[in-house]
Amino acid sequence: MSNVSVFADIPAGSAVLDLGCGDGTDSLIAAGKTGPDGRVYGVDFSQAMLSHSRAGATELGAINAEFREATGQEIPFDNDTFDVAKEVFRVLKPGGRLYLADIVVHKQVTDGAKEDVDLWTA
Ligand SMILES: C[S@@+](CC[C@H](N)C(=O)[O-])C[C@H]1O[C@@H](n2cnc3c(N)ncnc32)[C@H](O)[C@@H]1O
Repeated sequence: MSNVSVFADIPAGSAVLDLGCGDGTDSLIAAGKTGPDGRVYGVDFSQAMLSHSRAGATELGAINAEFREATGQEIPFDNDTFDVAKEVFRVLKPGGRLYLADIVVHKQVTDGAKEDVDLWTA
C-alpha cells in the first residue's frame, strides 16, 4: 500500500492534485485533511478507477473531491493551480509540496491490464 496522503502534510484549505488517483483512496484521505475550504482533484486515465473514486466520494460525502479523466502527460489544469500535488512542478505554486508514489513496469501494459483494478491497487 502506498497511500502517501496518510503521511503528507496537507494544510486545511489546500488545493490538492492526486495524479494517478486510482480508486481514490489517497484523494479521499487528502479531502479529509484539506477540509471544506480546500479541494482535491483526482486524475486518472482509467474509467474503471474513476468510477471507484466517484463512488467512494459519494459514499463518504466528500463534496470537496472531484475526479477527472486525463493522462499524466496532459494534466487538465492551469499553471500554478495547486498547493499540494503528487507530480509535475508546472501545476505547483512556488513553495508547493511534491509527493510521489508510483508503480514501475518493465514491459508494455495492455489496455485490459490498465482497466484491471486489482493490478493497480493494494
Ligand atoms: C497505484 S494506482 C494509485 C493508487 C492511489 N494512490 C490510491 O490511493 O488508491 C496508480 C494509478 O495511476 C494511473 N495511471 C498510471 N499512469 C497514468 C498516466 N500516465 N496518466 C494517468 N493515470 C495514470 C493508473 O490508472 C492507476 O489507477
